[in-house]
Amino acid sequence: MKILAIESSCDETAAAVVEDGRRTLSSVVYSQVEEHRLYGGVVPEIASRRHIEQISPVVRRALADAGCTLEEIDAVAVTAAPGLIGALLVGVNYAKGLAAAAGKPLIPVHHLRGHVAANYLAHPELEPPFLCLVVSGGHTHLMEVTAYTGYRLIGRTRDDAAGEAFDKAARAMGFPYPGGAYLDRQAQQGTPGRYRLPVPHVEGSDLDFSFSGLKTAVINLLHTAAQRGEEVSIPDLCADFQERVAGILADKVMLAAQRTGLKTIVAAGGVSANSGLRAQLERRCRQAGCRLFVPPLALCGDNAAMIGSQAYYEYQAGFLADSSLNAWATMSIEDSFEEMAP
Ligand code: KG4
Ligand code: ZN
Repeated sequence: MKILAIESSCDETAAAVVEDGRRTLSSVVYSQVEEHRLYGGVVPEIASRRHIEQISPVVRRALADAGCTLEEIDAVAVTAAPGLIGALLVGVNYAKGLAAAAGKPLIPVHHLRGHVAANYLAHPELEPPFLCLVVSGGHTHLMEVTAYTGYRLIGRTRDDAAGEAFDKAARAMGFPYPGGAYLDRQAQQGTPGRYRLPVPHVEGSDLDFSFSGLKTAVINLLHTAAQRGEEVSIPDLCADFQERVAGILADKVMLAAQRTGLKTIVAAGGVSANSGLRAQLERRCRQAGCRLFVPPLALCGDNAAMIGSQAYYEYQAGFLADSSLNAWATMSIEDSFEEMAP
């Protein structure tokens, strides 16, 4: 089954053709990041306008790269939540038009379910159940993936998402938006252990996360040093910050693995590209006798291939939409689109 997938939830306009949930026939990503960088973050209205301009050429190229026509596609899939509402609506409306014109089924996909599915494209042997850490710019979720369309959220951030914490700390150090990858590269040049960053304490659930205090500690450390005229080693500070964030994430993943008894661990989302996080998870999983799956770097960030992969399993479960499909800025990964409809 060939699915044409569309993703426009944030600042990437993407389209892909994916076969049977596992084989990427084409994947096109048009990134707007250079333009948003001028403003230090994503400007929603600019994002919507660029999606409108780019969506047709991006979809056309995805079909051409896959060597198929719209008639040869079996279904159209689209990210319908969560994300920037104006950005999502561009993809949803375009997908509705295509599906109606070509007489194909329409499959709505939750963006974070897509991030998880990036691993199905890269690892043919991976199947639920598994424990999954989704770390992106907007979310930090620890969950049991019980089935291809079954999720049980067991931990989440109380404040900033992991990617947001990376970006805010990076911004304080003067790196351009989005700073996560810059901070990662600097950290690899530095040595951890020099700066004492706090260990966040989270009341209540010990599987929940909190990153805002860590980000504030970095900002305060930089301010204090500037006032005193002291120099801060940016590579060493990056190394400390990255080690602390990766350590917190890995600790909770391993705690959840112990509690659930799950021996298969999966990471997903933009921050799963982080070298410190990958290294810590690899080491800890090896020690605990767990199997670890992470997406290749090209599939960590936003793309439409991951949406096409998840869409296959949504289709098999019968989760389809019609031309009344809407988009939602927020939606739990546990919920289905049928529950979201008015
Ligand atoms: O999943 P994603 O591409 O978009 C969302 O759905 O949010 O995640 C983007 C986030 C940004 O915060 C970005 O700085 C972060 O992922 N990121 C990284 C790295 N590469 C991307 N954070 C830390 N280290 C990296 N290597
Ligand atoms: Zn994403």
